[in-house]
Amino acid sequence: MPEAKRTPDPRNRIVSGRAFDEDARIEASVRPSNFGDYIGQDRVKENLQIAVEAARARGEALDHVLLYGPPGLGKTTLAQILANEMGSAIKISSGPLLEKKGDLTAVLTSLDPRDFFFLDEIHRLQPALEEILYPAMEDFRVDLIIGQGPGARVHPYQLNRFTLIGATTRAGLIMAPLRSRFGIVHRLEFYTPDDLEKIVTRSAQILGITIDKDGAAEIARRSRGTPRVANRLLRRVRDYAEVRAKGHITVGVARDSLAMLGVDEYGLDDIDRNLMLTIIQKYSGGPVGLNTIAASLSEEEDAIEEIYEPYLMQLGLLDRTQRGRVATALAYKHFGFDEPRRQHGLF
Ligand SMILES: Nc1ncnc2c1ncn2[C@@H]1O[C@H](COP(=O)(O)OP(=O)(O)OP(=O)(O)O)[C@@H](O)[C@H]1O
Ligand SMILES: [Mg+2]
Repeated sequence: MPEAKRTPDPRNRIVSGRAFDEDARIEASVRPSNFGDYIGQDRVKENLQIAVEAARARGEALDHVLLYGPPGLGKTTLAQILANEMGSAIKISSGPLLEKKGDLTAVLTSLDPRDFFFLDEIHRLQPALEEILYPAMEDFRVDLIIGQGPGARVHPYQLNRFTLIGATTRAGLIMAPLRSRFGIVHRLEFYTPDDLEKIVTRSAQILGITIDKDGAAEIARRSRGTPRVANRLLRRVRDYAEVRAKGHITVGVARDSLAMLGVDEYGLDDIDRNLMLTIIQKYSGGPVGLNTIAASLSEEEDAIEEIYEPYLMQLGLLDRTQRGRVATALAYKHFGFDEPRRQHGLF
C-alpha cells in the first residue's frame, strides 16, 4: 500500500467535504435528480426553474451558471438537475483535471447544441485555460492552432451553443473577467434544520432505514447545515442502531451514537473544537493568522478555510478579521471560558 493511503484526506472525515468510496456510492443513490426532489435553497431553485423554463420555451441553451458555496451543499447535484430538466447531456470535468489547453478544447469542441459542461473546482483552472473559456463562453468560439512553429496558424472554430456550469467552494478566487461571463450566479447557503430533517427522512426512505421524526430531527440539527453530512451521519447512526437498537433510529439512539462519534449538539467535531480552543487558549482569543492555526493543528490551510471555518462563522463562534481569526464572545461561552477584557472593542 502506498504511504498516502494510510493518511486520510481531511475532507474524508465525517463532518467534512468529499466522501469515502462507499459513501460516494450511497451519496449517488440518494442524490436528487429533479427539482421536485431537491429540498431547500428555495430562492436559488426558483430562479433556476424560471431560467430553465424560459430557455426551454425559446428552444435555446441555458445561460452559463456559476454555483458557489461550502462543500456538500448541492452544487454538483444542481448541475445534474439542470441538465436533466433541460433534457441535455452533461459532460463533467474539474479545474485541476484539465492540464493542457488541448484537454479543454477537446471537451468544448465535442459539445452538441444545448449540452452542459460542468466544470467543478473552477477556481483551480489554470490561467491559460481560463483564457480559452472567455471566447468560448461569450462567442462560442475557440481558436485552434494548426501546425507548429513559425508556420502555425490560428483557426477560429465555431462551437455549438452550450451551457457552462461552474462550481466552486471559493468564490473569492474567481476573478472578475470570468465571473462576469456567467449570466446566472448563485450562492448556496447552509440548510435549515427543517430542510435537513426532510433530507434525512427522504434518504432514510430510499435506503430502507426506519427512523423516528425526532431521530431525523436530531441528526439534522447536528449536520452543520450540510446535506452531505446529514446523509453521512444517517449512515453512521444506522450502523449503531443495527448493532445496539435492532436497526430502529429513535432520538435516543441518534444522540448516543452521535456522542460516540464525537459530534456535539452543534454538529462540531474534534477538529472544530481544537481549532476554537487553539485560538482561545493558545492565542488569547486572537487575532491569529490562518497559517499559524493550520500549523498548530497540523491541518491544511485550505481544509480549514473551506470546510471548518464557514460553519464556525455561521454559528457565530469565529470571526475573520483583517488581522486574523478571532474567537467571539459566544465561543467563550460555548466552550465554558470567561471572556477576556479586550482593549480594542473587537466584540
Ligand atoms: N437540496 C438537496 N436535497 C437533497 N439532497 C441533497 C441536496 N443537496 C445535496 N444533497 C445531497 O448531498 C450530497 C452532496 O451534494 P453535492 O455533491 O451536490 O455537493 P457539492 O456542493 O457539489 O459539494 P462539493 O463542493 O464537495 O463538490 C448529494 O449526494 C445529495 O445526496
Ligand atoms: Mg460537487
